[in-house]
Amino acid sequence: MTLAELLPSTGCATEPVLEEGLWPDGTHLSGSDLVIGGVGATRLAAQFGTPCQVLDETTVRHRARAFRRALPEAEVVFAGKSLPCPEVYRWMASEGLSLDVSSAGELALARAAGFPARRIVMHGNVKTGEDLKAALQHGVSRIVVDSFDEIAQLGALSRHGQEVVIRVTPGVDARTHAAVTTGVEDQKFGFSLASGAALEAILRVVEQPSLRLVGLHCHIGSQVRHVASYEETVRRMVGLIASCGVRVEQLDLGGGFCAPYLPGESSFDLFGFTQRVRGTLNYECALHRVPVPKLLIEPGRSIVANAGVTLYRVCAVKHGARTFVAVDGGMSDNPRPALYGAKYAVRLVGRGGARKPVTMVGRHCEAGDVLAEDVPLPADVHAGDLLAVPVTGAYHHALASNYNQVCRPPVVAVRDGVARPIVRRETEEDLLRRYV
Ligand code: LLP
Repeated sequence: MTLAELLPSTGCATEPVLEEGLWPDGTHLSGSDLVIGGVGATRLAAQFGTPCQVLDETTVRHRARAFRRALPEAEVVFAGKSLPCPEVYRWMASEGLSLDVSSAGELALARAAGFPARRIVMHGNVKTGEDLKAALQHGVSRIVVDSFDEIAQLGALSRHGQEVVIRVTPGVDARTHAAVTTGVEDQKFGFSLASGAALEAILRVVEQPSLRLVGLHCHIGSQVRHVASYEETVRRMVGLIASCGVRVEQLDLGGGFCAPYLPGESSFDLFGFTQRVRGTLNYECALHRVPVPKLLIEPGRSIVANAGVTLYRVCAVKHGARTFVAVDGGMSDNPRPALYGAKYAVRLVGRGGARKPVTMVGRHCEAGDVLAEDVPLPADVHAGDLLAVPVTGAYHHALASNYNQVCRPPVVAVRDGVARPIVRRETEEDLLRRYV
C-alpha cells in the first residue's frame, strides 16, 4: 500500500500526527514546527541553509547502545560506510563499538577520529594495494579477505602475523533488493561455501606464515527483514567451521538489519535476532562439537538511518498530469530512489491543510531524479515551503555526489536543543580545488 493510499488525498483538514517509528527519538510537532533533537526545523533551515541533513546524536547513541545491550557477549562493529564521518565514528568509539572500514579513505576518517586501531576491521570486496598497505601501516586489528589474490598480496605485505578473517558466501538469499543481496552464489562477494572455495581460502590463509586466521565472516545483504535468514546463515557457517578442521575463534555475521522507511513498516526484530541466533549458534556448535566462536555483528543502517532527517526548500511547483514539487536537492544527495527504488515519507513543515498526492523531484538533469512519488502534501504547496524527509541517516551522506556540480549538503548534529555541523556544506571553492 502506498503512502497516498494510507493518507487520503482530500478532506483531511489537518496534518496527520508524526508517523511512528520513522523520525529520530523525541521528534515532535510544536505549533507548526517540527522539532528534532530539541531544535526546530525552521531554525535549522534558516541557520544552515537547505538541503540540510540533520542527524540526532541521541538516537544514534541509543541504537548503538541497544545493540551492545542486546548482545553483550558479541563485538558490535559499526559499518562505517553507512555514515562516514569522524564525529559519528567518535560517538561509536565512546559507546564501545568497533568500526568496519572498507577503504583506505574510510580508514583515514577513522584515524582522524582517533578510533582505536585494535577495534578497526578492514573490509572491502576488492582492496587495492593502497588499502592493504594503509591497513597494515595503521595496525588495524583484522582484515577481512575476499579473494585468493588478496590472500597472496596480504601474505606478501604482512610482517607481523596480521589477523585475518575470511569472507564466506553462505548461499543464503536474504530476500532483499538485488543490488544489496550478497549472500547468494553468482555475485561478486566472498568465497563460495558450496563450491569449496571457502574451505580452500581457509587452507591458503593457514599456509601463509605472515597471516593468522582468526575468524569467518559473511554478510548476506542489506535491509534484511527476516531473522530466519540469519539463523540459516549460522547453521551453514558452523557447518563450515566444523568441517574445516581449523580453530575458528570469531564468527562475524555482518550487518543488514532493516530500518523502517514508510509508515507501518516495522523495525528490525533485534530481540528475536539475539534469541534465535544465540540459540542456533549454541545448538549447532554443540551438535558439531566445536567451541562456540565469539560473535560479531556489523550494523550500519539500523543505527543511523532513523536518526537522520533531510530538509529541502521547494524551488518550484509544476502542474501537469501530475504535480511535481521540485526541491533544491535531489539525486546528488539521495540517489537511493534511482538506485534501489527506495521510497520515502515527506512532510511539509510549518503548515497543514487538505492534502493531495504529489511527486517530489530534484533539481538534476534527469527524468529519473525523483525523490518520492505519491506523497500527500498540502494542496497549496508552493515555492519557499520547507519539506522534511525522515530516514535519511544511512547511505545518504555516504552516497552523495556532485552531479551537475551541485555542492553536497552539510550534516548537522542536533542534541538537547543544540545544533552543530559535523560535516560542513560543500562550496564552489571545494569543487574548483580539484580541477587542473
Ligand atoms: N558489513 C558489510 C561487510 C557490509 O558490506 C555492509 C553494507 C554492512 C556490514 C552494513 O549493512 P547495513 O547494516 O547498513 O545494512 N547503499 C545501500 C546499502 C549498501 C550496503 C553495503 N554494505 C543502500 O543505500 O541501501
